[in-house]
Amino acid sequence: MEGPFFLRSVLVVLVAVAGVYFIDRRRQQQKHALLPPGPPGSPHARYPPRLIQSWIEQYGPVISLRQGNDVLVIIGRHSEATQLLEKQGACFVDRPHSVAGSEILGRGMRFMLLSTCDRLRRFRKAAHTHFQPKATLAYDADQTSFARNIVIDLLDDPESHQSHVKRFSGSVTLRVIYGKTTPVSLTEDPCILHLKRMVPVVQGALLPGAYKVDHFPILRYIPWYGRQLKKWGEEEFKALTSWLSQYKSQMMTDSGPQSVAKEIVTRTVTEGNFTEQETAYFLGSLVGAAFDTTQVAISTIMMAAARFPEAQAVVHAQLDAVVGREAPPTFAEWVSLTELQAFILEALRWRPVNPFGAPRRASKDVFWNGYCIPAGATVFGNHWSIARDPDVFPNPEKFIPKRWIGPDGNINNDLKAYSFGFGRRTCVGSNLAIRSLYIASATIFWAFRVREDVKRPIDDTAFVPGIVSHQKPFSLLFEPRMDAAHLREVMGTLGKAA
Ligand code: HEM
Repeated sequence: MEGPFFLRSVLVVLVAVAGVYFIDRRRQQQKHALLPPGPPGSPHARYPPRLIQSWIEQYGPVISLRQGNDVLVIIGRHSEATQLLEKQGACFVDRPHSVAGSEILGRGMRFMLLSTCDRLRRFRKAAHTHFQPKATLAYDADQTSFARNIVIDLLDDPESHQSHVKRFSGSVTLRVIYGKTTPVSLTEDPCILHLKRMVPVVQGALLPGAYKVDHFPILRYIPWYGRQLKKWGEEEFKALTSWLSQYKSQMMTDSGPQSVAKEIVTRTVTEGNFTEQETAYFLGSLVGAAFDTTQVAISTIMMAAARFPEAQAVVHAQLDAVVGREAPPTFAEWVSLTELQAFILEALRWRPVNPFGAPRRASKDVFWNGYCIPAGATVFGNHWSIARDPDVFPNPEKFIPKRWIGPDGNINNDLKAYSFGFGRRTCVGSNLAIRSLYIASATIFWAFRVREDVKRPIDDTAFVPGIVSHQKPFSLLFEPRMDAAHLREVMGTLGKAA
């Protein structure tokens, strides 16, 4: 009696499993039949921004690439990015599950790679507290002083302009996060040296298909797989935890100025909100996210100044009228320097820091215009193409800062190039970043006319592709707008006093 009953049960289970499998497969096929159009090609390849732009022009505002069940959706127009990533943002809060980047490299605690979970909610809440506009005012004096150091560095060694900007970015970042008040050295500061090594590794892991283990998670348990990846993960863990313990032991003798670390460490003690390791990764993730992006953005502004001298002249005229020639700019003049603000916005649109955008994961099927973005798809709001949407930015290849100024002469805050991302995963450090871009470029423009060297013309398309797209080395000339010795004196004395 038991034999046939057992066989019947097995048969029923098999039929049920097969039924579920076929229904699911059919559903997948139906959904894939509804995918937005797109070119043939692997969803894992790294495509140059201009190629993606040509696909958007050919196939439409939302395109897809597919291989098996892996689907990549790229949103390349402004209105569709707003409709999907902002208005239906709840469906795109998640990041693609990343074994390599998140679990191995970041022990599940790297901010940028967090999936939707309680930890993400706590990290974002803490970041909002520390980077809301009022909180970032605390760093104005040091940001101003570091910006003036760039001018002195440029007078000493104009060739290394990209390094000077990097030093500014590193100094501001470590000041804000860990309360380090002295400017950093790019060649000696252990934190900067670690970032130089690790930031490209972490950013690389963000690109879809960067590591096989993201598709075959079992690989992580094979001892000889990804030895280097595991080593980097270990190195990162040691670095971030040692920065935190150094900070804590320093706090014992001197509680130091306001910084994110100070707030978090004190709160961890009083509220127990973050574990020790979470604190280390929270702070380390902020440093990693801030250092590279800020530096690339300022170098883009400098590149644009040299390439578009008429636009730079407009900024100079307003700087001279508002700030005068006696003392360099401060944050007090920011609101009045609309031409500079517009120049910065246009530079970020012209050469976005993150041309691909950052990956999201659709958490459920999203239907749009008769198409389906299936649950599990990796979705990018492509900054490069969105910033070139001709309906929003007429003559998109032209550098026109005036497009950002409304008829009332103020910055048009309704216009967005989405340089800091979309919806619920938008950049948490944008207030601080914008303040850094402002004070660095205001100070450099006040001091210099930035020029292209005719003997070494700039290739303004020479960027290294990646989540953060760096300029390749390029030449600039910095022509002091006053006597160089006087300029040095003004920056030195006022820089220190700031
Ligand atoms: C010019 C400078 C910067 C640019 C262009 C920039 C851009 C971005 C972009 C595009 C994203 C992804 C948003 C999305 O998924 O849609 C992002 C995320 C992030 N940014 Fe920034 N960023 C800059 C500076 C900073 C600074 C100064 C900080 C911190 C102090 C910071 C911290 C972060 C963090 C932690 C995330 C991850 C947020 C999350 O995944 O929920 N960024 N940023």
